[in-house]
Amino acid sequence: MDEIGIKLIEEYVKPALLAIKNSGAYAPLLSILNILSEEGMCSSVLGTHNELSRVLSQITIAQHSYFVAYTMLQRFQQSASWEPQLRSTTPQILISGLGHDLGKIPRYSSPCHGRGRYDHAIVSANVVADVFCNHNSSPPWLAMVLQAIRIHHSDYEVKNNYLQKLLRRADWEARMIEARRIKGTII
Ligand SMILES: [Fe+2]
Ligand SMILES: [Fe+2]
Repeated sequence: MDEIGIKLIEEYVKPALLAIKNSGAYAPLLSILNILSEEGMCSSVLGTHNELSRVLSQITIAQHSYFVAYTMLQRFQQSASWEPQLRSTTPQILISGLGHDLGKIPRYSSPCHGRGRYDHAIVSANVVADVFCNHNSSPPWLAMVLQAIRIHHSDYEVKNNYLQKLLRRADWEARMIEARRIKGTII
């Protein structure tokens, strides 16, 4: 796990452990972290068609996912006026950020699933749904998380899903920072 992954665990996962366990997200979260550590070392970019994607291809799916989850929690913390709200919302934010690009992992992406920009989002949502199903866990917020993941590259905005906007913005912000860190690239 990289530096951001460790910060994510120390600053957000450990303080919210009780909320994560009570929400039924603990075992699925461990499974997703396990997938990222075992299979998330591949490139976070599908195809290198321009300079930006060539730069970002140096970032692994695991690094990018930790960064997006961390950024989402930071942004939510800045907007949340109430500490318990952050703790109780941490599980769904964590699962959205860590799971949003799982569909880019070669084991899950296949010709029939597709490897495109929009396809990987649908595959990611299916992988996260399977993880929860395997643990017989179905938190009331799971549908909102799956929807946010499924449309994280879409311009379409759904009502009553704050996660969609949070994920999309954090994904974009993470990409800008990743690119600048590697090469000083301006998007
Ligand atoms: Fe994505
Ligand atoms: Fe992403």
